[in-house]
Amino acid sequence: MIIAVDGPAASGKGTLATGLARHYGLPHLDTGLLYRAVGLAVGEREDGPEFERAAIAAARALDAAHLSDIEALTSAETGVLASRVAVIAEVRAALFAFQRDFATQPSGAVLDGRDIGTKICPDADVKLFIQADSKARMERRAKQLEQRGVLVDRYALYHQIEERDARDMLNPHGGFYKADDAHLLDTTLLDIEAALRAAIEIVDRTMALKAGGDAS
Ligand code: CDP
Ligand code: CDP
Repeated sequence: MIIAVDGPAASGKGTLATGLARHYGLPHLDTGLLYRAVGLAVGEREDGPEFERAAIAAARALDAAHLSDIEALTSAETGVLASRVAVIAEVRAALFAFQRDFATQPSGAVLDGRDIGTKICPDADVKLFIQADSKARMERRAKQLEQRGVLVDRYALYHQIEERDARDMLNPHGGFYKADDAHLLDTTLLDIEAALRAAIEIVDRTMALKAGGDAS
């Protein structure tokens, strides 16, 4: 079983994907970390050919060692850098095989990101598209960072998330939209447990329907 979980920044897709992976005993890949690792490797530079060359080289050289510095990877600044490297077609192409191999391992898998249901796994068994309003998303991310001892400027964070959402929505290579066959789950008013319960219900219902359909 392949489960695709997509949605905008801090919508709760990572937490949900982790919960689903645990519930169904599947391996989980947070694909945002790949883009964040490329962004972190390139660092702050102006947009231009130099930035693009460095990002493509970093994406082609990416390995597991680059995914270990979770604190640096998950900062809001690295999120903005990730969305800047994510508009480069060659970067997306370089990261495709890794994601596809993860998704198609025999055990099945849960992947979360932006384009899992549209580009990486259009064949996923279950697709979820997670939404939450932007104030709720900013507040969640702020609390998450504060729990780690990071001093948060909510005004700046709100703008970082808005900037990233806007760039992601315009990404010409993205596929950052809800796939036609994805189930929309709005978590604005749901806590983590309620969101997970709703997602499990969707997965079970979808798999039961598929099994019924396959049997007939
Ligand atoms: O966790 P959060 O939603 O804040 O961000 P993320 O999932 O770690 O993704 C960081 C950035 O990487 C996004 O804003 C996208 O620009 C990019 N990304 C992407 O292009 N495709 C994916 N499958 C995942 C992330
Ligand atoms: O992966 P994504 O950026 O979409 O979000 P996340 O890292 O899963 O969630 C961002 C923060 O919101 C985490 O601290 C979660 O614990 C929290 N959260 C929440 O408060 N309510 C939810 N329904 C889902 C997540």
